[in-house]
Amino acid sequence: MLLGDLSREDYAKSLPPVFARLCGKLKALDLVALPLGWQDLEDGIRMNVMEFETSPVEGKKAELHRKFIDIQLLISGEEMIEYSLSQPNLALYDEYREDDDYQLTPTLENKNQLFLKPNMFAIFLPNEPHTPGNLVTESKLLKKLVVKVPVELL
Ligand code: CU
Repeated sequence: MLLGDLSREDYAKSLPPVFARLCGKLKALDLVALPLGWQDLEDGIRMNVMEFETSPVEGKKAELHRKFIDIQLLISGEEMIEYSLSQPNLALYDEYREDDDYQLTPTLENKNQLFLKPNMFAIFLPNEPHTPGNLVTESKLLKKLVVKVPVELL
């Protein structure tokens, strides 16, 4: 898991080149004006722009990917994301959906929490489960995007 803030001049310094390039493209966009829904960030790399009300983390399932890395960037609002960096125990997960590249677990072992402010991004690699979209102190509207980066680009 990598965490950063596009507002910083040096945000790309510690990022692998593919993330530095894609984050540079994101930084050049008028994020607040981006239309909602799936769109291309560049050829072969898709992103989903979303707007929704944050909700309590309790009772939610964590998601895990195998083929794609998530770059999750908060555009407006605030967001708490739970995640775990422990080796996932796949026996605790439901079936893997090959077409949509995810599987879910109700049990996130050794979990941590991170808090995104606008322009902050969190990058989740395959096998790093995460539960996004959670409220911080109260439910609020957020706008965010998730870039799906094929793992072979890393
Ligand atoms: Cu994800």
